[in-house]
Amino acid sequence: MAEVEFRQIESDADVLAVARTSSLAYPTGEFYSDATLPKLVKILVDRRKNSDKRLYGLFLKNVAHFEPGQVGAVVIGAKPNPITSEIEHSEVQPSVEPSGGLVAHFLHRDFSVNLFGVERTLGGLAFVGVDLLHKKRGYAKTLVTQWLKLCDNQGQYLAALWPFRPDFYTKMGFGVSSPFYDYTITPSVIPTTRRFAGNLKHKGAASFDVLRHLTVAQISEITECQKRCASATHGMLAVEEQNVSLFNDNGITRVLGFRDSEKVLRGYIAFKFVKVDHVGSDLNVVELIYETTEALYAILQFLRQQDDQVRFIKIKSQDTDFFRLLEDPRGANSSQQHVASSQSVGMMYKVVNIVKLFSEYFIDRDFNGVDLTVLIRVQDTLTPEMNPEIVVSFVKGHATVVKSGSETTVNANETTEATLDIGIAEFSTLVVGAIDLKTLIKYGKAIVVPADKERVVTKAFWSEDLPKNSFHF
Ligand SMILES: CC(C)(COP(=O)(O)OP(=O)(O)OC[C@H]1O[C@@H](n2cnc3c(N)ncnc32)[C@H](O)[C@@H]1OP(=O)(O)O)[C@@H](O)C(=O)NCCC(=O)NCCS
Repeated sequence: MAEVEFRQIESDADVLAVARTSSLAYPTGEFYSDATLPKLVKILVDRRKNSDKRLYGLFLKNVAHFEPGQVGAVVIGAKPNPITSEIEHSEVQPSVEPSGGLVAHFLHRDFSVNLFGVERTLGGLAFVGVDLLHKKRGYAKTLVTQWLKLCDNQGQYLAALWPFRPDFYTKMGFGVSSPFYDYTITPSVIPTTRRFAGNLKHKGAASFDVLRHLTVAQISEITECQKRCASATHGMLAVEEQNVSLFNDNGITRVLGFRDSEKVLRGYIAFKFVKVDHVGSDLNVVELIYETTEALYAILQFLRQQDDQVRFIKIKSQDTDFFRLLEDPRGANSSQQHVASSQSVGMMYKVVNIVKLFSEYFIDRDFNGVDLTVLIRVQDTLTPEMNPEIVVSFVKGHATVVKSGSETTVNANETTEATLDIGIAEFSTLVVGAIDLKTLIKYGKAIVVPADKERVVTKAFWSEDLPKNSFHF
């Protein structure tokens, strides 16, 4: 591979190079024509102002100019009119040539995630793109490696991404988090009253009394509700106001919210209609957030009432038991096989630094009261130096790193009570509680020696809840 330089995208020339490269890496965005490129430049310039999003690029060294065929002067500061989408050149500034040599780029995200009841920092990867003419030369691999080092340097010992292809990132050591269940149901199977009701205040109340349209003016209220929900949900990312995209599609996505008697927003549903024919539509749920059962039922009642107009409601859930909520758990397209939902996978996690994971990241975590000293050997072929073998002592569930790397072979006769051999992708899903060790052992994806310690090692990593997160980045 040619000599490359990795740097944060800060200058206008670098932003232009990223715009050119990414417009062709993501052609479905339709930004790659000279006419539409300024819109993408504007998006990237705005992103640069957002402190939790940082662009990075991989540049070939000693390349002064951009590829001749790709050079196109773009006006930094040109902005699309929000109504007509036409480019307005009201902030015309001198045109800038894109930097030379950019072969790949990505966006780093700083997130806060609730894991085991505590808000923790999480590194996020998005917007990975390799120049059309430089694919299949290992640049994506170099990029991901650089990104993991970046996460490590800023104390993000766990990192996540939403894959375009899970197999691509599995090879790099990322493990799939909890799955989604995709439901297609008719409004008639939605229950509107709770069987064991505490507060039935809203039973039979008209939806217009119970729910309110929310617009961009209520964005703070929406994020406060989302964050409260995140702080109560294992695996959920807290979404900052500037990252709420519900109102970015010119009013196609609609949001209805439920406020409690104290006027606090306790839940909301974002949805859009998709035309089926000239009378009917499907209702696609974009997001459903609720803090209380009361809020959930207020929203369910609204959905149930759409049966005159809506053919199917499409909803994604990470609740393994969502089908039990419905009056008929069979999906709308189910035949005699009683299919309730289809399953899809989403976010992937990778442990960035196993030593720091135990010694810092999960310093407060109770590994279920377990007392045991374990040698953990994870196989990480991408960044083995960041995930060496490690001896962890669990005392009353509190983990301490005893040794790591080459130290683990010192005093070989000093016994550990068990050894866990596991791939980094599987280990990453295990430490976030997306799977239990017993299942990994059954599938031949992990091994504990001696076998009679399988139960106690499984117990150490056992999680009461699966991680759930619907925020896509
Ligand atoms: C998808 C895309 C980023 C891939 O970029 P790329 O530079 O062609 O990818 P790479 O050459 O680095 O491919 C990854 C390599 O890393 C290797 N690799 C992955 N994990 C590895 C590991 N643990 N150890 C060693 N090698 C590993 C893979 O085997 C592969 O090499 P190979 O092709 O020789 O088998 C690029 O095609 C692109 O920009 N596509 C359009 C935009 C897009 O879809 N982006 C979505 C990404 S989220």
